[in-house]
Amino acid sequence: MRNLAIGLALVALIFSAPVANADPIKIKFSHVVAENTPKGKGALAFKRLVEKRLAGKVVVEVYPNSQLFDDKKVMQALLLGDIQMAAPSLSKFNKFTRKLQVFDLPFLFDDIDAVDRFQNSSTGKALLDSMKSKGYKGLAYWHNGMKQISANKPLRMPTDAKGLKFRIQQSDVLEAQFRALKANPQKMAFSEVYNALQTGVVDGQENTWSNIYSKKFFEVQKYFSESNHGLIDYLVVTNAKFWDGLPGDIRTELEQILVEATAVANGTARQKADNDRRKIIESGVTQVLTLSKDELAAWRRVMQPVWQKFERQIGKDVIDAALAANKVS
Ligand code: LMR
Repeated sequence: MRNLAIGLALVALIFSAPVANADPIKIKFSHVVAENTPKGKGALAFKRLVEKRLAGKVVVEVYPNSQLFDDKKVMQALLLGDIQMAAPSLSKFNKFTRKLQVFDLPFLFDDIDAVDRFQNSSTGKALLDSMKSKGYKGLAYWHNGMKQISANKPLRMPTDAKGLKFRIQQSDVLEAQFRALKANPQKMAFSEVYNALQTGVVDGQENTWSNIYSKKFFEVQKYFSESNHGLIDYLVVTNAKFWDGLPGDIRTELEQILVEATAVANGTARQKADNDRRKIIESGVTQVLTLSKDELAAWRRVMQPVWQKFERQIGKDVIDAALAANKVS
């Protein structure tokens, strides 16, 4: 009897132990770009703010530069619980939702401000939940910027791209975009792009100024056309079960911290779009071509039929809402 009483007392003690003694919740955040980029800085800001405001309760480990996973494997890793957060580019969710393809349609958004307005619209916000049935939860959009196209020959008109091999992200829209140019698109992980350009496995690529600069693509491409023809932005994504299972107060604080980390990522994106572009021009190792209005119109004319091809998958309402964001009301 006495032993039973002691046993019960011990059990009671264990279960009443203060939560502070529990192991902190670990969030592993995996991504593919350098630390000195919009996404890299956003992830580090998230970690820093969590350390400050949720010390002892949550720890964040950030793994940049494809150290842990490329963007194809990262989605599986999220479901398996190997990591808890990632932020693949919006071009890489094809397999899980067709709706996010809207962000890949060429020449859809006039500029990053229009992208911002769309992401903050009710249609844009609803897309955060477009992979719910697959077990993923979109937490936030982060900007990177508009894409520029490059090769070892000047690309002034769309016909200049004919027959060239271009590295693309995992995206059917981008595949169709390069087919419209009569070029050969090749889906490839981000970590392989520099080598592929250097060794001639591909002739060209499209990416943002910050990725082109931080991964040194400008050193292995002779010409960049300032085309601003498309977008690379991100979806900060988590495992829905993990997120919904967090204690309410911790989840609320993490959501607030994400708002602040988003501001850091987006502020960095705007700075880098200008600064990294300038540094590339100043390097003198490549040439940045400014396209005339007529040249840009020609690229738009060739690429825009891609919209029609994907309209049913994406939804006309979503495309219309994105287009509406180009106009400042
Ligand atoms: C790419 O693969 O080119 C980009 O999605 C990389 C990134 O995360 O910005």
